[in-house]
Amino acid sequence: MILRISLILLALLAIANTRSVKNYETSKRELEEYIRDKKKDIDPRFRPHYHLAPPVGWMNDPNGFSFVMGEFHLFYQYYPYDSVWGPMHWGHASSPDLVHWKELPTALIPEDEQCFSGSAVGDSNTMVLMYTAHSATDTRPYYNETQYLAFSTDGVNFDKHRGNPVLARAPNGSPDFRDPKVWGRGRYWYVVIGSKTDDERGRVLLYRSTDLLNWEFLSVLAESDGDLGYMWECPDFFELDGKWVLLMSPQGVEEKGDRYKNVYQNGYIIGDFNYETHEFVPEVEFQEMDYGHDFYAAQTLEKEGRRYAVAWFNMWNVTHHEAEDGWAGMMTTVREMRLFNNRILMKPVETTVNLRQEPKLEGQLYLNEVVEFGQAVELFIDADLDQKIELHLDGRSGALSKVWLRWDPQVGKVVVDRGDGDVRQVEWEPIGSRTWRILLDASSLELFCGEGEVVFSSRVFPLGGWRLTNLSPQPVNMLSYSLRRSVAD
Ligand code: FRU
Repeated sequence: MILRISLILLALLAIANTRSVKNYETSKRELEEYIRDKKKDIDPRFRPHYHLAPPVGWMNDPNGFSFVMGEFHLFYQYYPYDSVWGPMHWGHASSPDLVHWKELPTALIPEDEQCFSGSAVGDSNTMVLMYTAHSATDTRPYYNETQYLAFSTDGVNFDKHRGNPVLARAPNGSPDFRDPKVWGRGRYWYVVIGSKTDDERGRVLLYRSTDLLNWEFLSVLAESDGDLGYMWECPDFFELDGKWVLLMSPQGVEEKGDRYKNVYQNGYIIGDFNYETHEFVPEVEFQEMDYGHDFYAAQTLEKEGRRYAVAWFNMWNVTHHEAEDGWAGMMTTVREMRLFNNRILMKPVETTVNLRQEPKLEGQLYLNEVVEFGQAVELFIDADLDQKIELHLDGRSGALSKVWLRWDPQVGKVVVDRGDGDVRQVEWEPIGSRTWRILLDASSLELFCGEGEVVFSSRVFPLGGWRLTNLSPQPVNMLSYSLRRSVAD
């Protein structure tokens, strides 16, 4: 793999156009100065302590989630100039352990193209980004999407390939052709790309290449039968515990009872895949990955046999309450994934324990008893699942500052209720542990039930610390740690 990437790099460097590279470098320098300056205007009240958020401005999808050059990298869709979506850049952070994140200079800035979502591959010397160039056109639908490469030898500064695009057109010519996720196997690179059919059904396309530059279309990996939306964004495709998982973010799936209540969905299909025929045979129907209010565009990476996921901790077309503070959007905690009984289990990455601060608080909380915490807390709750549980987390002020967590043994559902009917709920059948693990930060809640069979990620906006009241008709056992800061403030 090392040889392949390094050779490409030499070829790319040889044809780089030095004059436009210079302009690009100047724009990048000016942007970093702007970010440094603008940071002073941010209101910190909702800034996360241990979730990655943009230094200023807007963040959406995780991109290029990878382990390259001895570090984890997490790029993201970024618009630095306002806390709403705008011409897309790639923000960048790196981490030694998936919980401590260091801000790095903006990796990609838009020129003729916007830098939409994509992925990263590399080795100890070189990193290659493959991303979607979203460009304006004169004719309907007034945009087109192709795939670009950019590369780096230091993991910080990226040059766009001068021979872009490397993949110019979906087989059916659809202008919606985006979010490449690349991986290597044997002598080939493979990529999955989100797209749609001519009659507006979401689909995922599979390609392969020996050099990342020339791509051969292999198959339509999967497509919506009509019920799974009109566009599949941000696909990812990987083996997990002996099965294949097609993870994607379908747009246009209709709400069904408790399911699909967010504006867009994020979920997966489990099946089998054959590298000879390039055929994916689905075995289990689409399931949501996370049941909370704010979870989208998840991307994964594999390291030493473990598969980690991270997602955009927001949703499209909802109010982003932090936007008035000069920033918007953050990442979920990184989770480790396992497959069990045809369902993905998600647990906070093991290194989350490194955020814990002593002393821990331990004890029983009786009905109506209250306990107060700071903004960044990890909680373990144990109670009798044959009886009801109700916990109230009060952030004391403003919109979306209160949340109720419930369990009703009669219906067997866990409920996350942000008030005013803003409820997410799902059946839970513990397969082992019966503990709830809750991660609270300055504007978020993540609830992991049991072994991670059911997970909710929801944004909530407390002012100051958290106040927890036990409203259950039973005492609950509680263990808590306050968590230390692991991201820039
Ligand atoms: C998903 C998405 C991607 C696209 C990016 C643009 O949230 O719409 O499909 O590449 O965001 O910012």
